[in-house]
Amino acid sequence: MTELETCLSYYLTMRSCEYHTIRWGPNSSKKDGGGKGMTISGPPSANEANDISKTDELWMEDNMTSDEREERRLKIEAMLGDGVNPADSAIVEGFKSKASNYWDDFYKRNGDRFFKDRHYLHSAFPELGNEATPFTLLECGCGVGNSLIPLLEVNKNLTVIGGDFATTAIETMRKDPRYVKANAQKMGDLTGRAFSEVWDITKSPYPGSYIKGGEPHKFGENFCDGALLLFCLSAVPPSKFSTSIANISSCLKPGGLLLFRDYGHLDDSQLHLLPSCVKDRGRILDENTYVKQDGTICHYFSLQEIEELFVKAGFKVLELEYIQRQYANRGEGKVRRRIWCHAKFQKVKDEVRDGGDKDDESFVMIPSASEAQQQSASTEAMPLKVDDSDEEKQKCACIIG
Ligand SMILES: C[S@@+](CC[C@H](N)C(=O)[O-])C[C@H]1O[C@@H](n2cnc3c(N)ncnc32)[C@H](O)[C@@H]1O
Repeated sequence: MTELETCLSYYLTMRSCEYHTIRWGPNSSKKDGGGKGMTISGPPSANEANDISKTDELWMEDNMTSDEREERRLKIEAMLGDGVNPADSAIVEGFKSKASNYWDDFYKRNGDRFFKDRHYLHSAFPELGNEATPFTLLECGCGVGNSLIPLLEVNKNLTVIGGDFATTAIETMRKDPRYVKANAQKMGDLTGRAFSEVWDITKSPYPGSYIKGGEPHKFGENFCDGALLLFCLSAVPPSKFSTSIANISSCLKPGGLLLFRDYGHLDDSQLHLLPSCVKDRGRILDENTYVKQDGTICHYFSLQEIEELFVKAGFKVLELEYIQRQYANRGEGKVRRRIWCHAKFQKVKDEVRDGGDKDDESFVMIPSASEAQQQSASTEAMPLKVDDSDEEKQKCACIIG
């Protein structure tokens, strides 16, 4: 069989199965033309993913049946044996307090080579591609800019602001020529359409500044139209979810959008990570929250959990759904079943929050950033040995996230 025939037969085998995306929750119907066939909402872009002359990888929509989901749930239960039994609190606190060091080490080892540029975001979140209106986007946990930098090229009316607590990630992003160019761009008396700052979302609102009339000014509060939270909240310890969301919310204008994607419960990467954590129980921090070999935390979300967190923090749900994909790598001969949570929330306007009708479904009491902050604590972390073979496995698991 020639190379082309092999590709074709592989492609046809994949296509011959019934795939579709499972969606539920508000606005769950339209995006992919009824949910059959190739996705347009990524990841990654349909053309890029499925041009088999250019890539060894195929992405197909997936439909995990409820029996298959139950099978996975039982597998996890069996692996855990007598229950979750989270690690000793001193160990948990250690991982929390050293989280930025573990991520910084990750970027020192991998530079900008680990995650791929995301070219699908303006399909997943169309407001990011809309050039008709200026839009200021803050990415929380932006890494080396794999999301923000491609967006600069897609939408010339977009100003991007990145924050990440890994200093090496921010330094790496700042060296990217596309970032450098956008950072120096002049628009009236404003300088720059790309900004960045080292920022720990669990500790404060965004601390960065911009230049106006040659002088630096703090971004302060309520400055962005949208906040992107992409595979970042999963790296935060669950006890700090509320503080982090409150800090992000304070940066958003009332009515602003929070655009969210992250690992979903029962994703293949959860099933791959759990066995090594069961062997080393100190790496199980909480239900569906584990520590990878390199010390970074990963939580696997359910839709219900996300909804509760954001509604409690003063957001209205616009979209909430699982996205499921089968990822096949011809070179590796492996198929992975991936599950992500996709959501779009809107920050409820101040007047509704402060004086609104309590019967209004969007009325919610919002904890201030400092109230939510009180939940945090910190001690020393356990040193960890990084196993390169596990790193390689993680890389497959992290092609998207
Ligand atoms: C899986 S990476 C995703 C990077 C980027 N959002 C993307 O999608 O390409 C997770 C990122 O979140 C960052 N991160 C984790 N916890 C954070 C925190 N508390 N504050 C700021 N950034 C954080 C990490 O340093 C890392 O860059």
